[in-house]
Amino acid sequence: MSSAAARRNLLCGTALCTSDLSAQPLTRAILRDCNLVTPEYELKWDVIGRHPHEPDYSAADRLMAFAADNGLAFHGHTLWWHEAIPESRRANQSMDFAQAALRHLERTVARYAGRLRSWDVVNEPLEPAHGRQDGLRVSPFLAAFGPDYIETAFRAAAARDPGAILVLNEMGLEYAGPEAERKRRHMIDLLERELARGTPIACLGIQSHLTALEQPRQHPAFRAFLRTIRGMGLSVMITEMDVSDHLCPRDPRQRDRIVADTYRAYLDLVLDESRVLAVGTWGLADFSTWLNAFRPRPDGARQRPLLLDRAFRRKPAWHAVRAAFLGA
Ligand code: G3I
Repeated sequence: MSSAAARRNLLCGTALCTSDLSAQPLTRAILRDCNLVTPEYELKWDVIGRHPHEPDYSAADRLMAFAADNGLAFHGHTLWWHEAIPESRRANQSMDFAQAALRHLERTVARYAGRLRSWDVVNEPLEPAHGRQDGLRVSPFLAAFGPDYIETAFRAAAARDPGAILVLNEMGLEYAGPEAERKRRHMIDLLERELARGTPIACLGIQSHLTALEQPRQHPAFRAFLRTIRGMGLSVMITEMDVSDHLCPRDPRQRDRIVADTYRAYLDLVLDESRVLAVGTWGLADFSTWLNAFRPRPDGARQRPLLLDRAFRRKPAWHAVRAAFLGA
């Protein structure tokens, strides 16, 4: 569905934090291989709001300046996420939480209005295991605003930056199995409800944290899901792609090949079925992956989930992503 021209002009991005900016080889690799950056954690409310009376945008401003100085597009991540609420706000979920959350969103979107391309306005709204009929996660945002919180967030963001592409970002939509299928169904119902009431969601963010040897290559259920999303008139952003190799053999060359094949098969499927606005990886070089902590390999070897090796050399995964972009 993504035309050849669209594929060639796809934005390719990576998650970034200010500590990366002091690593010259990394910033050179980013400028060589990327045209989009996403703050890995420093634009989140728990970082900005760490001092209860004085928001701290210093780190986010540095990342925004790096992007602007180097002509990189900037994807804002993320305004409302249940895992990024400031300590001082976690206790209460009442009116002042609602006021504080809305004030944070409005102030942050207004601060960067016109300077960034897109926002993950709400991150990970679904948790079917929480038992609600609508599959919504029982979060402080739901407690404070009710099920309309998604509409509230998107309308507030659109009012303060009408030019930004507003994204609803979710994890696990690309997984196989009944739980993921339930989540995909809840996501379709959620989007149908929100679009029917005019909530300004333009794009579905699919985090795409894949697992080699577990990610189905054809994946008919996910393919059908993407077709439904396209039928709603929504574009897709691949927001946090990486491929965990914790199930792969130890040999690095074998792992690199399996990881590359996983990237290729996944992107071929998504680019076939969706209007993809951008593809971002969650880190660019293997040394910076969150997966070593989150998904350690049983043999203790360090993960090799990303596009560049620890010396910023392009791996088979990089070539696989580029080939998918070019439809080669
Ligand atoms: O850099 C500071 C360090 O100076 C300090 O001593 C230390 C202890 O507080 O914290 C360090 O910052 C940590 C940062 O990662 C860098 O390691 C933060 O505490 C920690 O919260 C932060 O975790 C991030 C996490 O989101 C929560 O914000 C991860 O980097 C980031 O990869 C992860 O990304 C999430 C996406 O936002 C949403 N999708 C899932 C994805 C993976 O969990």
